[in-house]
Amino acid sequence: MQKIVILTGAGISAESGLGTFRDKDGIWTRYRIEDVATPQAFARDPDLVHRFYNTRRTQAAGARPNAAHQALARLQTEHPGEVIIVTQNVDRLHEAAGAQNVIHMHGELARALCASCGARWDAAPEIGPHDACPHCGARACRPDVVWFGEMPYRMEEILAHLSEAAIFAAIGTSGQVYPAAGFAQEAALAGAHCIEINLESSAVAADFDDTRQGTASETVPGWVADILCE
Ligand code: APR
Repeated sequence: MQKIVILTGAGISAESGLGTFRDKDGIWTRYRIEDVATPQAFARDPDLVHRFYNTRRTQAAGARPNAAHQALARLQTEHPGEVIIVTQNVDRLHEAAGAQNVIHMHGELARALCASCGARWDAAPEIGPHDACPHCGARACRPDVVWFGEMPYRMEEILAHLSEAAIFAAIGTSGQVYPAAGFAQEAALAGAHCIEINLESSAVAADFDDTRQGTASETVPGWVADILCE
């Protein structure tokens, strides 16, 4: 049965009210990456970094999945082959729509990570650098998100899925951040048909065989219906 691997980015959650990073008014137009999203920023000013993620955690907790998240969850249930969802998003909207086994390659806002021992736990709505680790007791709490300069999670597993994909779809991502931006090339090498579904052409649009342009909530349900031959 045909395996489908889907990569999602901030664009899929835009219509749920969560801002993207690089669009007009995006998060990186209001904050500097080097102030809030690098290990060096955290070493310099952990309170500031925690405040940034605490705000985003609160926003994400109040967001609801949209028709695109719901369509992908339905695809997972109804497609006879495996459907793997890899997301760069740190929200839980895929899960809220009913998706299973989502791979959060950039971590999750809902989780905290001990910078001392590596233990992870469910984050309270607000966390801070001096919260004690429930495992080792160290006061070295950080958000469980992958910062610039850090290795995304579960890369071996993702590359193995890409090497088996018959279809690869990238949804709502600008293609500006690697390694995710290189997934279409990886999947194409393995013979996958690659489709980009995005509001505008991404930085790596040339790596795809096919494109659907539009908002995720309009385009993704139609693509899913086509895959399911409805
Ligand atoms: N429907 C579909 N696509 C949309 C929509 C929408 N409603 N709104 C915006 N988009 C598209 C934009 O056109 C853009 O190409 O989504 C993309 C969002 O791009 P980015 O803001 O760069 O987000 P993303 O690609 O997920 O960023 C990757 O960068 O800062 C890091 O770690 C962060 O995971 C993030 C990574």
